[in-house]
Amino acid sequence: MKKTIPEFEKMKQAGEKITMLTAYDYPSAQWVEAAGVDTILVGDSLGMVVLGYDSTVPVTMEEMLHHTKAVRRGAMQTFVIADMPFMSYATADLALMNAGRLIKEGGADAVKLEGGFNVIPIVQTLTNAGIPIVGHIGLTPQTANQLGGFKVQGRDLESAKRIVKDGLALEQAGAFLLVLEAIPKQVAGQISVNLKIPTIGIGAGLDCDGQVLVFHDILGLFERFRPKFVKQYAQLGDEAVQAIRSYHEEVKSSVFPADEHTFGLSDEVIEKLYGDK
Ligand code: KIV
Repeated sequence: MKKTIPEFEKMKQAGEKITMLTAYDYPSAQWVEAAGVDTILVGDSLGMVVLGYDSTVPVTMEEMLHHTKAVRRGAMQTFVIADMPFMSYATADLALMNAGRLIKEGGADAVKLEGGFNVIPIVQTLTNAGIPIVGHIGLTPQTANQLGGFKVQGRDLESAKRIVKDGLALEQAGAFLLVLEAIPKQVAGQISVNLKIPTIGIGAGLDCDGQVLVFHDILGLFERFRPKFVKQYAQLGDEAVQAIRSYHEEVKSSVFPADEHTFGLSDEVIEKLYGDK
């Protein structure tokens, strides 16, 4: 059964951890749903792990919509959150139009956007319009350049205080879930205790109300780099290369296709076929 927003809040109150994993297409969504994960994020990380961009910045609305629709088809019974790509929420009007598309056309149950105080008016506009919002603070990959690169955030007093305040402001603006990325566990712990809404950590320690990771990272399908916070549960990339190499070699050596992969004709039809010539 698809989880609801009040259920996520109840899970936090009951101390039950919330699981979130990214998915980007029909089969990955089916696998994540079959594994019983509470919620799927169609992350703009798809720009890097699926489309091969250097960062999430080039990802477009059309790409997010394309992938969100496929995930929806693969996971009808899972709460799906779609990322709003860079610049798709630069103004309130743009944000309304684009968030509306991810919900209406993409079939998402909620949208996620990055930022703290700077996005509060946008979060208010969207929640007033009835669009469920997930916040994302700490390391925000869309604006990593402004943060000095892909670095842990909130390590000094000033920035730790700012992140804690950002979290409160997002809750007050109407966000129902908050992703905390790459911040010290103590900062994440304090935010999680301060807020009524659940926090979902990625590189933010065990005291968050739930965890999120990237599908390709946990399965060993993306090897360009691996952040410290990633735990790899399988090496499917290596297995895939092995399997593809076997196929390649079997075709070269005429081992594949074998009889069981081949269609034939009855002797009678063969005789008539050749006889007609
Ligand atoms: O795009 C993404 O996958 C994300 C998660 C890493 C939180 O934003």
